[in-house]
Amino acid sequence: MGQVYVFANQKGGVGKTTSAFNLGVALEGIGQHVLLIDLDPQGGLTYYAGYEPDGLEETVYKCLLRDVPPGEMILTTKYGVDLLPANIDLAVAEMQLLNVPARERRLTRVINHVRDSYDYIIIDSQPSLGILTINALAAANKVIIPVACEFLSIRGTHALLKLIAKIRGTLNSTLQVAGLLPTMFDARTVHGREIIRILKTEFKEIHLYPYQVNRSIRFAESAAEQKPIFDVKIQVPGALAYRELARDLVKARLRESG
Ligand SMILES: Nc1ncnc2c1ncn2[C@@H]1O[C@H](COP(=O)(O)OP(=O)(O)OP(=O)(O)O)[C@@H](O)[C@H]1O
Ligand SMILES: [Mg+2]
Repeated sequence: MGQVYVFANQKGGVGKTTSAFNLGVALEGIGQHVLLIDLDPQGGLTYYAGYEPDGLEETVYKCLLRDVPPGEMILTTKYGVDLLPANIDLAVAEMQLLNVPARERRLTRVINHVRDSYDYIIIDSQPSLGILTINALAAANKVIIPVACEFLSIRGTHALLKLIAKIRGTLNSTLQVAGLLPTMFDARTVHGREIIRILKTEFKEIHLYPYQVNRSIRFAESAAEQKPIFDVKIQVPGALAYRELARDLVKARLRESG
């Protein structure tokens, strides 16, 4: 049965989409079958995975709002991962969902159709704590919180943790925070190292992954070229973090299954 992870942080531009795609490809690389779900009307994950979002008729929107089973919508990619895509159609879902029964559990229903076909299902959420992100948190087993190594980025983390606690009390009692993933890390600056220290002390009860995704312009280039970071010509140190994260997910799962 597929384990469902969501990358969440209401702060924009912290590496949610980059992490979802590259972790997915890294997991495929170690023999895990992965479904990526784009739950952001910006369609960034859809684009990164090789599709032009605006050219798509069939997207996650129809699964959420019109009960179309996801099997018909899922696209294959060059990198082994499958994709349930999104585009700007999803922007109206926020409003339309307000009138739908059990509106927080729509994505859970969608995932239930395909859970058994994958080892991991990875959701990319949008930079807000609205109904789409709540659907993602209701459907997930675990949340990974990417945190850009800048002071402003840390501040929003408390609000996200509060929302997660609330979701645990209502929609999803077994939801876990898998960890904080430091992104945009610059080892040459004191500031970057200071942020890691603050994350350790301020969020003692939450796992901090012991590696960081280094800041590198190659990430933007890899997204523009619609290629995973592992496929850019020059070896990028930040890419290793995604390989380690993939191995950690698999190890965690083995531990849990005893
Ligand atoms: N480690 C990194 N170093 C430098 N740039 C990065 C890194 N990771 C991602 N980026 C770039 O930073 C920008 C934001 O990354 P990304 O889109 O993954 O963030 P996001 O959290 O999904 O953003 P949004 O909240 O808008 O969905 C992109 O241009 C991406 O290519
Ligand atoms: Mg994004």
